[in-house]
Amino acid sequence: MEIPEYLLRKYDVPVPRYTSYPPANYFTEGFTEAEGLKLVEESNQGNPSRIAVYIHIPFCRKICYYCGCNACSIGKNQWVLPYVEALKQEISLVAAHLDKHREVSMIHFGGGTPNAIDVEFLGELISHISERFGFIEDPEIAIECNPAYLDPRYLESLKKAGFNRFSLGIQDFNPEIMGPLNRESSAMPVQEIISLLKAGSPGNGVNLDFIYGLPGQTPESFAKTIEQAIDLRPDRLVTFSYAHVPWLKKHQLILEKMGLPSAESKMEMFLAAYNLLKEAGYIPLGLDHYVLPHDELSQAIRNRTLHRNFQGYCTRRTTGQVYAFGVSAISQLENGYIQNTRELGKYVDALGNGTLAVERGCHVTDKQQVIRQVITEIMCNKHISWSEQAAAFATTPENLKSCIHIDEAALRDFEDDGLVVSSQDEINVTETGSLFIRNIAASFDPDFKQSTNLYSRSV
Ligand SMILES: C[S@@+](CC[C@H](N)C(=O)[O-])C[C@H]1O[C@@H](n2cnc3c(N)ncnc32)[C@H](O)[C@@H]1O
Ligand code: SF4
Repeated sequence: MEIPEYLLRKYDVPVPRYTSYPPANYFTEGFTEAEGLKLVEESNQGNPSRIAVYIHIPFCRKICYYCGCNACSIGKNQWVLPYVEALKQEISLVAAHLDKHREVSMIHFGGGTPNAIDVEFLGELISHISERFGFIEDPEIAIECNPAYLDPRYLESLKKAGFNRFSLGIQDFNPEIMGPLNRESSAMPVQEIISLLKAGSPGNGVNLDFIYGLPGQTPESFAKTIEQAIDLRPDRLVTFSYAHVPWLKKHQLILEKMGLPSAESKMEMFLAAYNLLKEAGYIPLGLDHYVLPHDELSQAIRNRTLHRNFQGYCTRRTTGQVYAFGVSAISQLENGYIQNTRELGKYVDALGNGTLAVERGCHVTDKQQVIRQVITEIMCNKHISWSEQAAAFATTPENLKSCIHIDEAALRDFEDDGLVVSSQDEINVTETGSLFIRNIAASFDPDFKQSTNLYSRSV
């Protein structure tokens, strides 16, 4: 695939990632514990009814200069034990408001670096959840890992604790690119890590994360990294566009001094990876995810039943109301979002006092639920059938469309530029259009205003 340069210039603007709708910058400050708990209680009637748990482990042994995550230095480990205790307390407090008959379909440990802490703590947290809820058969228990801190004992213990999906942050295989960014290479050969994770449990899933657009990367160098990745045959692979948000993450300013690649070069990196991965049999999902045909997400894209949440893509089987625990964590419920404080000390103190550390959030109105559904459908399945969506909300396509403030002019532009093909009832995103999926989603967002300091650029 090739992208004409004028499209790149036209659509490379700051756009939300739409991991939530409304986007997180619309959450209101001063959201109270009582408001949060009311949303939690109402979520017992939410659809889907399953429980997806997100646990945020913010600690990292070193902070990578490019990092855009909610991460902090682990220092001398002094915060780890109080933090794990606070997590358990938070899980107990929220569980007391949830219907015990609801089942857990997914637990996701993200960060930060969950494997920066002792694996025993992770096992304790899983047990803490399983003492309070039943699980569906074969739930997904996933962890994001920095491979610099993995060894065979740790990997075995993760499997024993019940983890069955592993995401390894590779970013780039070239140490000359990652070293200056304060990032160490994998401690073990990545091939060996994958073999150990699958040994005796071939159904275990492995994902590799990459980032393009970092200082020192060129389309040729990134292509080499992706070729190495293809040789490893991970079930899933993500190529994140480097999100430069120095107004939120000051340490990223260093990358400006090192020299960031141009938008054109970044697009070439993306396309080099896209073409290599497609040739190697990977199926592209959404904007930047790829899966092998045997993976359940590939089946979901074929059936148009792909879903996603802040943690990534999922299927209907594993989708649930997401209850998120830990500092900065965001619960994603049918009727609203609840975010915890981003300050570690505040979080631990609040839970120590037996209260939740809720700080921001928002209620999602009926109208916003419709918009969210349409945006999710476009972002995941690259397709809208107005009659199907209307049926899901027990209304007519006309009513549904009038409830969303569609930017018709933008849609006509997408059509003229070959990004979408539409008919009376359907909008289908083309292969080229998938690269600008965030821009297309924005045309269904009535509150979208272009602003340079709110979002990362779309390319
Ligand atoms: C929480 S980290 C994964 C686990 C572990 N901390 C690590 O770095 O390997 C999640 C992923 O976010 C991605 N990421 C981090 N900072 C980013 C940025 N500024 N732009 C785009 N992706 C980023 C990386 O690919 C990283 O693997
Ligand atoms: S990229 Fe991962 S390891 Fe590096 S600072 Fe961010 S969360 Fe920590």
